[in-house]
Amino acid sequence: MMTRVLPPDERGLGLAAAILSDGGLVAFPTETVYGLGADARNGRAVAAIYETKGRPEFNPLIVHVSSLGTADIYADIKGPLRKLAEAFWPGPLTLVAPRRPGPLSDLVTAGLETVAIRVPAHPVARNILDLFDGPVAAPSANPSGRISPTTDAHVLAHLDGKIDAIMRAGACQVGLESTIIGLEGDQPVLLRPGGLPIEVVAEALMQKIGRPLAETITSPGQLQSHYAPSAPLRINAMSPEEGEHWLGFGPDAYGGSNLSRIGDLREAAANLFGMLHRLDGGPPIAVASIPEEGLGQAINDRLRRAAAPRS
Ligand code: TXA
Ligand code: MG
Repeated sequence: MMTRVLPPDERGLGLAAAILSDGGLVAFPTETVYGLGADARNGRAVAAIYETKGRPEFNPLIVHVSSLGTADIYADIKGPLRKLAEAFWPGPLTLVAPRRPGPLSDLVTAGLETVAIRVPAHPVARNILDLFDGPVAAPSANPSGRISPTTDAHVLAHLDGKIDAIMRAGACQVGLESTIIGLEGDQPVLLRPGGLPIEVVAEALMQKIGRPLAETITSPGQLQSHYAPSAPLRINAMSPEEGEHWLGFGPDAYGGSNLSRIGDLREAAANLFGMLHRLDGGPPIAVASIPEEGLGQAINDRLRRAAAPRS
């Protein structure tokens, strides 16, 4: 693929918004780091983010929106989180709040009931969000395991030829990822230190900001309990056994459900969490084997954890 390097003028910004609307990937600057953006409602586009980053697992992504009013469509932002949104948005702060039912792809939240959301301050990010007029999922625009990019040159060095477009907008001012704050009960907790100093957050709320319980410190993508469906799940199945619901991949004649009849890993990734939610509470699930390559690694990682014995 040819990666277009777009200037942040009217035409470049319009093209970036159009590429997002078409389900493409655009790297754009925020005040923290460059993000790799896709339409957060489009499961296949979100799957392409994971594929491009080469992430071996589905970590949930941050959803970028243009205002607190827009964030309210996707998340239930209340109590101390609302105070922080009012004080620091737009800015280098991400809030993890209960997700509202609606159009966000399940892959953005990796099947969680919460969503990480932020309103960036960078004018280029803001212009793209306004023109695109929708939620943009964007992790940092680096391949998995590499450091976060703070200039368009960093992004180009690793992603040239792999994404649709890069905004040529120079260096990010903050240069550190956003600070992530969530809630435990009604207490604000620091999920990731970042560009907004925690002392400043504490001062705004006039309270100490705790650390999350040990379990939630690890990436939520690692937490089996968040994900395991209540129905037993058998992986690498050749065919369904008596009483099992079949979850296929590729063409088959078993009925049941199918992650992708044409054996497309992007489609399967986009369908994974939605289908597991839908089948939850039903009979045992037998899942066809998924190739251990590209997005298949993240899909298998998720399925292995769902199939592991429960405590
Ligand atoms: O500054 C930033 O935040 C940049 C720019 C592009 O906005 N984005 C960024 O995204 O750093 P990413 O995907 O590299 O980091 C997202 C972090 C991950 O550590 C992920 O586990 C956490 O946010 N996260 C996302 N959704 C979450 C959720 N529902 N609960 C807890 N943590 C969540
Ligand atoms: Mg990152």
